[in-house]
Amino acid sequence: MKVTVAGAGFVGLVASACLAELGHQVTCIDIQKEKINMLQCGRSPIYEPGLEELLEKNLCNKQLHFTTSPHQAYSGADIIFIAVGTPENHDGSADLKYIHVVSHTIAHYIEQDVIVCTKSTVPVGTNELIQQIIESRKPPNLQVEVVANPEFLRKGSAIHDFFHGDRIVIGTNHSEAAAFMEQFYLPLKIPIMKTDIRSAEMIKYAANAFLATKISFINEMANICKNVGACIEEVAYGIGQDKRIVHHFLKAGIGYGGSCFPKDTKALIQLSGDFKQRYELLEAVINVNNRQQSLPVLKAKEIIGSLQGKKIALLGLAFKADTDDIRESAAITIIKELLEAGAVVTAYDPIAIPNARRIIGNAIEYTEEIRQALLNADLALIATDWDQIKHLPLEVYLTHMKEPIVIDGRNCYPLQEIRQYPIIYRSIGRPDLPNTNDTFE
Ligand code: UDX
Repeated sequence: MKVTVAGAGFVGLVASACLAELGHQVTCIDIQKEKINMLQCGRSPIYEPGLEELLEKNLCNKQLHFTTSPHQAYSGADIIFIAVGTPENHDGSADLKYIHVVSHTIAHYIEQDVIVCTKSTVPVGTNELIQQIIESRKPPNLQVEVVANPEFLRKGSAIHDFFHGDRIVIGTNHSEAAAFMEQFYLPLKIPIMKTDIRSAEMIKYAANAFLATKISFINEMANICKNVGACIEEVAYGIGQDKRIVHHFLKAGIGYGGSCFPKDTKALIQLSGDFKQRYELLEAVINVNNRQQSLPVLKAKEIIGSLQGKKIALLGLAFKADTDDIRESAAITIIKELLEAGAVVTAYDPIAIPNARRIIGNAIEYTEEIRQALLNADLALIATDWDQIKHLPLEVYLTHMKEPIVIDGRNCYPLQEIRQYPIIYRSIGRPDLPNTNDTFE
């Protein structure tokens, strides 16, 4: 089938590569010439494990093409996926300018009947708007059906998620379009849910809001655990055994970040407000998350007092492991707070440094060597649970730092391991170490 994907961002590129891998003839279009040039050479503008290999392979076997030409992209397409960005407006609502532009362009360039499938996260009612825009501008003899098809890909495991997702949601009020999409996705052998267009749009927001709520719930619980002398990991395991709760997304830490949860929770609050309904639960979720991101610096001040002139090793810049994405990363909040407090920061990250440098600039030092970051540091602060950090021999904190003080925002190390070393260790929702009964050999 001839498939066109509009937008060569994270969702568009993963969809393009994976649909080509499934055997479709895929054309991916973007307005950014530089990005398309790079992709035509088989280089990915984003870091996503396995993506570059799939791009290269399918470019080579001519299943995949990149273009900036709308005529080339849209004129012969059987199905068009919209995967353009929907950034955040100042008031938290979704900015639909790219959706508008792409809808107009599709209407102008299509030359045959086509299904237009929206993968971008869009507020409820947007797919109907896309249908109206295309309907009013397309050649009158052509039939176009717009389908909501929200995406649940996670950064860092997007290729796996595409082929092994929990469900595919197809939202349309048109039975033929629903049947067409069902056939299209059949080879993936993933459960398909067909629903109306507005419910499909809402499912995406509801899923992200619920997952964000789980994270803020467990972080709030973690803070209580710490106060009462319980351990959040035991509590999370205990409640996760309940099939109604399940253990996923119950890992306490310094809050969620990334391009989806922060943006989509705010957009849902905004959407709810449009109907004069305050979404108080989600407001609390966001407040808890903001507070959680500030915990590490508070803990640092508790231990060493003023941070003025203190050398801090910040381990991890990405919002989570296996991505170079730093959008809404807790690390960025932490850096700003550390700099305000007068600290001297050296940040370690294996791949996110170029992205961080674009935001933070030269206000801090960067290194791709953990040991370099730790050298002579007064305190280490872990913001991302990279494997490189989790597998660091704990002796390194003793041999490299001025004082072995570690604030672990991602609970990277088992307490029984830390207990074997004279490290002053604070984590999330777990007892402080050393406690008064600990002795070291
Ligand atoms: C998320 C959704 O999972 C995905 O379905 C949607 O399409 C896009 O948004 P992503 O942002 O890539 O995906 O990352 P995810 O793995 O969901 O993690 C989001 C944030 O929550 C990260 O900062 C992560 O560190 C944090 N997190 C996640 C926790 O703090 N605890 C957890 O238990 C899980």
